[in-house]
Amino acid sequence: MTDNASDKPQTATGGQGQAMWGGRFSAKPAELMQAINVSIGFDKRLWSQDLAGSRAHARMLISQGVIASEDGEEILKGLDAIEGEITAGAFPFRDEYEDIHMNIEARLRELIGPVAGRLHTARSRNDQVAVDFRMWVREACERSAAQLASLQKALVAQAEVYADALMPGFTHLQPAQPVTFGHHLMAYVEMFGRDASRFRDARTRMNECPLGAAALAGSPFPIDRQATAAELGFDRPTANSLDSVSARDFALEALSAATIAATHLSRLAEEIVLWTTPMFGFIKLTDAFTTGSSIMPQKKNPDAAELIRAKVGRILGSLTTLTVVMKGLPLAYSKDMQEDKVPTFEAFDALELSLLAMAGMVADLTPNTEKMAAAAGAGFSTATDLADWLVRELNMPFRDAHHVTGSAVKAAETKGVDLAELALADLQAIEPRITSEVYTVLTPAASAASRISYGGTAPTQVRAQIARWKELLG
Ligand code: ARG
Repeated sequence: MTDNASDKPQTATGGQGQAMWGGRFSAKPAELMQAINVSIGFDKRLWSQDLAGSRAHARMLISQGVIASEDGEEILKGLDAIEGEITAGAFPFRDEYEDIHMNIEARLRELIGPVAGRLHTARSRNDQVAVDFRMWVREACERSAAQLASLQKALVAQAEVYADALMPGFTHLQPAQPVTFGHHLMAYVEMFGRDASRFRDARTRMNECPLGAAALAGSPFPIDRQATAAELGFDRPTANSLDSVSARDFALEALSAATIAATHLSRLAEEIVLWTTPMFGFIKLTDAFTTGSSIMPQKKNPDAAELIRAKVGRILGSLTTLTVVMKGLPLAYSKDMQEDKVPTFEAFDALELSLLAMAGMVADLTPNTEKMAAAAGAGFSTATDLADWLVRELNMPFRDAHHVTGSAVKAAETKGVDLAELALADLQAIEPRITSEVYTVLTPAASAASRISYGGTAPTQVRAQIARWKELLG
């Protein structure tokens, strides 16, 4: 600290404050210290995990003879009382006790006296927060997977109703080939199925219990880490005490899965936004999932879809935040890691809301099947069917068939008609061997029905996938 530092105003945010005003202005740094250090405002969300961890730890200490069972019973009763206070909204969350762990411990001491101090034997806040947060993230993964399954069910239900409903399939957002609405919806069922399985995989990997690692090096007390791990629903204890208190990759992995799921949600949201425009007019949402405009009386806006489309920003932001927080941290615990919670909570709040709203919107939507079917035939979308017919019936090499079809499209375009509306003479002028049989493949319905390869858009295939998912989703 240079002398110059004292020329600068001693504001609450002055970076050089601490060393300078330490002796004379003891009150201010203390307030600032508390302001930057306090986490109870957000980590109170870990209260139930913290109580579960404390109960498991207390029971283990009793059965290992580390604390007397009378003391342990007092502690367990005190923890029950605290749970009652919290659920009744009567628990005093206090900034002066910094975080959820010390708030609960301080309250325990108020309720049962100094015996409360025995709970922290063979434990540190470092393994305590590690186990609490891991349990919270584990539950978030379970909830997300369950909500993804609900969304999939909503999609499957609509897909079943509209397994034959024709719509244009797009590439480059240009009409490509006819597909069915059911097929399109089932594409999202696949995506959300992978998302759910990512959450399940992450859960499997994170399901090791860090409790008992204590501050960083383990404990000299005869603790039973297998017992606490089992009681808290973990598959096993973590195998390295340093890793136990410094690992947050479980949260990074969960946030990665959340980001990918949010990306998928945003794609479906974007399609809903497009489809509800009068220009597309493919689907309608009811008043339940639209809002009006304060100035333009005709408007019905798909706000929920737009917000879901946007939430991915917040979720990816959380992944970025925690990645940067963790990058370059030396082992083991550092207070930086307290910054893991807000982004993680925020991301999962956003994801869960998006999943619920999307499931609601999917159930709410009604397609305009006539408009979709009409659009399915536009843009010469059965051109590939003509080319395939030439290959099949005239034994033409596909490249030649592609060329002939291109000429047919050009002729149709010049005449301002669809491919199916071209006269046979016009087609024969391009390729004399074409017969009137060709017209059977030029309708969108025939085109879709012909795509019977596994996973194709033929309604038979779509129905097979619907049946498979109904079985899987139960
Ligand atoms: N509130 C802290 C956190 O969220 C708990 C662990 C604090 N440990 C410590 N040694 N200061 O990370």
